[in-house]
Amino acid sequence: MKAVIFDLDGVITDTAEYHYLAWKSLADELGLPFDKEYNEKLKGVSRMESLELILALGNTEYTDEEKYQLADQKNELYKEMIKKVTPADLLPGIESLLKELREAGILIALASASKNAPFILDRLEVTHYFNHVVDVTQIKNGKPDPEIFLTGAAKLGVLPADCVGVEDAEAGIESIRSAGMYAVGVGTPAQMQKADLIVASTSELTLDLLKSSHANRA
Ligand code: G6P
Ligand code: MG
Repeated sequence: MKAVIFDLDGVITDTAEYHYLAWKSLADELGLPFDKEYNEKLKGVSRMESLELILALGNTEYTDEEKYQLADQKNELYKEMIKKVTPADLLPGIESLLKELREAGILIALASASKNAPFILDRLEVTHYFNHVVDVTQIKNGKPDPEIFLTGAAKLGVLPADCVGVEDAEAGIESIRSAGMYAVGVGTPAQMQKADLIVASTSELTLDLLKSSHANRA
């Protein structure tokens, strides 16, 4: 294992919940029956694709302009929520894992579909741990396509087979696996069916666990 490539929302910090709350507020306003179960489909998926999934719950047609306006409305609400993020919002064990990885000379990258990712890393005060943050505006195909994780590995100069990817979304696990990397899923076995290794909480993620699981991969 030469590198670990992390997703952000739901792995480094619990902003997955804020994305949900912001979409929920928009869906309520539009009278659409959006809930936590349906929200699983949105995890790891870009802003506009997420909006399309929500609008598919109803049968109103919107123009492109209206869609951009709705996506903006959600993003403004989301940005209000993430203004309050502090280092205390790092998920359990994440900062010590980042430290351990750096000390062991393992490279670290971020592969998040969120345009708000650099802002959130700064609010969490962890930007300095990352050797590379993938610029999502340069990515053509979102998760589950492998492009974002492959770009992370290429920017770090490591082979995909030497990378471990960490995700909380089904689309993200698929992206990691099709990139030819070892996939670690944070969540329940039902949500993380395709992961190579599943942990219930980020507190279980340690250098030892990642290294030995990657070394013993099938
Ligand atoms: C991540 C989250 C998604 C979010 C996407 C885009 O992948 O898991 O829930 O829709 O980023 O985020 P953005 O902040 O650019 O709207
Ligand atoms: Mg996520």
